[in-house]
Amino acid sequence: MSRRTKITAVDNISFDIYRGEIFGMIGPNGAGKSTTFAMMTTLIKPTSGSIKVAGFDIENDAEKIREKIGVVPQQHSLYSDLTARENLELMGNLYDVPKKIMDERIDYYLKLVNLETHSERYTGGFSGGMKQRLSVISAVIHDPEIIFWDEPTTGLDPQTRQAIWKLAGKFNKEGKTLIFTTHYMEEADKLCDRVAIMNSGKLVALDTPENLKKMSNSTNLEEVFIHLTGEEIRD
Ligand SMILES: Nc1ncnc2c1ncn2[C@@H]1O[C@H](COP(=O)(O)OP(=O)(O)O)[C@@H](O)[C@H]1O
Ligand SMILES: [Mg+2]
Repeated sequence: MSRRTKITAVDNISFDIYRGEIFGMIGPNGAGKSTTFAMMTTLIKPTSGSIKVAGFDIENDAEKIREKIGVVPQQHSLYSDLTARENLELMGNLYDVPKKIMDERIDYYLKLVNLETHSERYTGGFSGGMKQRLSVISAVIHDPEIIFWDEPTTGLDPQTRQAIWKLAGKFNKEGKTLIFTTHYMEEADKLCDRVAIMNSGKLVALDTPENLKKMSNSTNLEEVFIHLTGEEIRD
């Protein structure tokens, strides 16, 4: 086998996400979730097909899309030699958020995720949960319409996971569309209006958690996945 064997990370998928919904993408490692995110957030170009985000085409209007979205990548990108506040200011400045509004938002969000007493600390010394809480608010400093969180709760303690769920609910109530990936099935079940199930680069199913469970006569999404793919889901 050639070392240059091509992998099709995402294979011919098509779906719509509605304004204001909490949309979950679930599936095991390698399913293609992050690659799909990277395409939707204008970081990589699909080899074929088209994507519109907030009504804009990723090909022609990537700039406009970037203004409308807030992104937390799977490998988050905090600067460890900057303080929590400086990390947030960096994001705010990237998006040209006026100083006064930015300062207000930073104080508000730091408090919301219980980091207000750590605002002047370098993030290099933060725990995983603290980094993640900071990451999820760093994506909203410019008040985006659409939020992308790639595995926001993976590997976190139950308390931090719960804090992030609460935040998801809050943003959604404010009218923001939230798109996130997870491999915690019960999390998707609990939080999402609709769930896309991915496996091996393909979209296996997309519906409300209720309908997905009903369709495959299952009591949880874990069973739905097994029913649809014949495989166990594992990390
Ligand atoms: N930068 C990359 N170079 C080569 N292959 C990649 C790269 N990123 C992802 N892949 C491959 O693409 C497929 C989908 O990966 P990914 O989108 O990261 O899945 P998920 O986020 O669902 O775990 C996997 O087979 C993975 O190995
Ligand atoms: Mg991923």
